[in-house]
Formats: sequence, C-alpha cells, structure tokens
Amino acid sequence: MVKMETAELETDLSLFKYDNLEQLPTRYRELDEAERTERIEAALGELGDDVVILGHNYQRREIVEHADFIGDSYQLSKQASEADAKYVIFGGVTFMAESADIITADDQTVILPSMEASCPMAGMAEALQVDAAWAEITDAAPEANIVPITYMNSYADLKAFCASQGGLVCTSSNAHRAFEYAFEQGDKVLFLPDKHLGENTAHRLDMEDEIVEWDPWDSDGKDAETVAEQDIILWDGYCQVHERFRPDHIEQIRADHEDANVIVHPECRREVVEAADKAGSTATICETIENAAPGETWAIGTEIHLTKHLQRWHPEVNVLPLCGDACMDCNAMRQIDPNYLTWVLEELIEGRERNVIEVAPEEKDLAKVALDRMLEI
Ligand code: 13P
Ligand code: SF4
Repeated sequence: MVKMETAELETDLSLFKYDNLEQLPTRYRELDEAERTERIEAALGELGDDVVILGHNYQRREIVEHADFIGDSYQLSKQASEADAKYVIFGGVTFMAESADIITADDQTVILPSMEASCPMAGMAEALQVDAAWAEITDAAPEANIVPITYMNSYADLKAFCASQGGLVCTSSNAHRAFEYAFEQGDKVLFLPDKHLGENTAHRLDMEDEIVEWDPWDSDGKDAETVAEQDIILWDGYCQVHERFRPDHIEQIRADHEDANVIVHPECRREVVEAADKAGSTATICETIENAAPGETWAIGTEIHLTKHLQRWHPEVNVLPLCGDACMDCNAMRQIDPNYLTWVLEELIEGRERNVIEVAPEEKDLAKVALDRMLEI
C-alpha cells in the first residue's frame, strides 16, 4: 500500500476557518474594566431578551461574569438548542459557535465575538483529509461496517461527513455512549480527531486491546490494511493544552500535598488519566469541586482559567492547578476578549451584526443529523 501524500489533497489547511475576520476598532482597544463593565451592562439592558450569552468554562473571568449560561460543550449545545433569543453570543471557539448555529432556528443569529478563536485540534482533521482517508480504510476493509465518530471539537463539514456515513458527534461527557451507539450500528469505529479522548474512552469500555492510532500521511506509520484489523481507529489529533500534563506533575502534587486528590480532563494522555483519581469533562470537574467537602484539596489538570474560576467560586476547597505556573491557558479561548464583547453588543444596538458564524447550508442539515444523534443518545 502506498502512503498518502498531503500534496494529493487540494485542501487549504488554514488556521482560521472563516475569512471574514473583523478586527476590533481602535477605540475599543484601551477600555478599562470599570468602563467596559458599565457599557456591557448598559448594552445588555437595552438588548434585553434579544440576546443570550453562552460562556464555556475556559473563558476569561470578564466573559463568564456576563454569561447567562456557563458550561461544558455538551451543556452549551443543549442551551443553544433551547435558546429563543434572536442573538446567541458565544463565548467559546469556532466549532462551538458553528454547532450553536446548526442547532438554533434559522431566524436566530450566532455571533462569535472574535473570529480568531479557532481550536487547533479542530484543524487537525479537515473534512477533505478525512474523506481521502475514509476511501483508503473502506477499501482496505470492504466487508467492515465502520462508523465514524467525531468529537465536538471539529468543524461542521466533518460533522456532516460523519452523519453521511451513519456516524455522530460526541463530547467528552458522552464519548462512551457514542462508542456504544456506534458498536450497535457497526463493527468498527473511526474516532476523530482526539486520539487521547479516544484511547481513554476505549479503556473506560474495556476495549483498550482494540485500538490503533492512524496517521495516513506518516510514511513510517501503519498502512490501511493493518489499521483495519483493529476495531477502534484513532485519528492522530490532540489538544496542545492537555498534552502538556505528565504523570510527574501528579507525583509532584502528591509529594507536596499528601491529601491531594487529582482530577483531569480526558483530553490528557492515557498515563495521566490513569495516574489521576478521576477524569471528566469540564462540567464533571466543576461538579466534583462543588461536591467536595470544605478543606479538601483538589489538583486540576485542565485549562487554567477553569481552575482559577473554581478557586474563586469555591474558596472553602483547596483548588490547585496540577502543574502550577506551567499550566497553560488555551490561546483559542483567550481570543474572546471582553473588549470584543463590548464591541459586538454595541454594534447590535446600532443594527449591525459583527462576526456572525453561518454554517454553509449544504453542510448544515447533515451536521445537524450528527448533533441530533448525540443529543438523543
Ligand atoms: P468540555 O466539553 O469538557 O467542556 O471540553 C471542551 C474542550 O475544548 C476541552 O479542551
Ligand atoms: Fe481546543 Fe484544547 Fe483549547 Fe479545548 S483547550 S479549545 S481542545 S485547544
């Protein structure tokens, strides 16, 4: 089998999916927090029920303070599906805002305050690449019924592709249920794009012997025939924030705090999840700290803003970042600057819609099928 070459694909693997990047006008760049808060509150007062703000758990304090709902990817997609506001302002990254646009009604508009909030992991599995790899793997195993599952952290065209092949979307809170659904429909799973979430989910289902990692463009990697022998095929994507955590960090925190409990996100490497006391989505991390007894110590292995929120929200619990100052913030999430929030709200008052996320109609219906399958499992 000849290895695939990237040059075979006429795909533009650009960092930003949307090319209508609107930069913040200069007059919004230097607002101080007091003035900004006053202006955001005034704008929200004027816009009333026309606007709902959804904030992911990794957003900055100045964004979550203004959010009507704060949550993980799954909770926010549920909220988007139930929202009846004319404008859904998404404090999150592009793939989350796309999902909100797919799920909301046609007369609702989704706004991502800054178009630069693009998750690098979502860019690691472009639909055109996956389509080419799919042809390879289905040729290599013509008898197999492979069901593609894409993590929410992917673009709408990949979600649409998965639906077209009988697959679905999952988030970190329901990946195990998506796998179960897929194995009821078929006999193999292609999981995209996060190999760590895929591996951790396979372990949760006692299917760790069935996994194989696949990078179709790696000339030293496995060919499609070898890959197709396994039941769970993991695309070679990962999150740069969560890959940084190591078992050493857990050892160190336990050495420094002998009563420390450790919870990590399932985007972390397998060995980190294994060494931790618990793993779960950002909502599970929040619930764990909410339910902790006063005085308990919890070290958290995820994006640093969530750890800081939990320190503020639960001063009765000793909440620590798992790797101290080295714990990273997510550069994509950080692009949602509160000055941008002020700008998009004030523009709405003037009747101008800025940074609208609009999924192409030809992708929307199919991507919705993949999201609806997730919401039903
Ligand atoms: P959650 O679904 O757990 O909120 O995670 C989203 C994410 O991007 C984690 O990096
Ligand atoms: Fe993407 Fe990782 Fe940021 Fe989540 S934390 S949005 S997966 S880069």
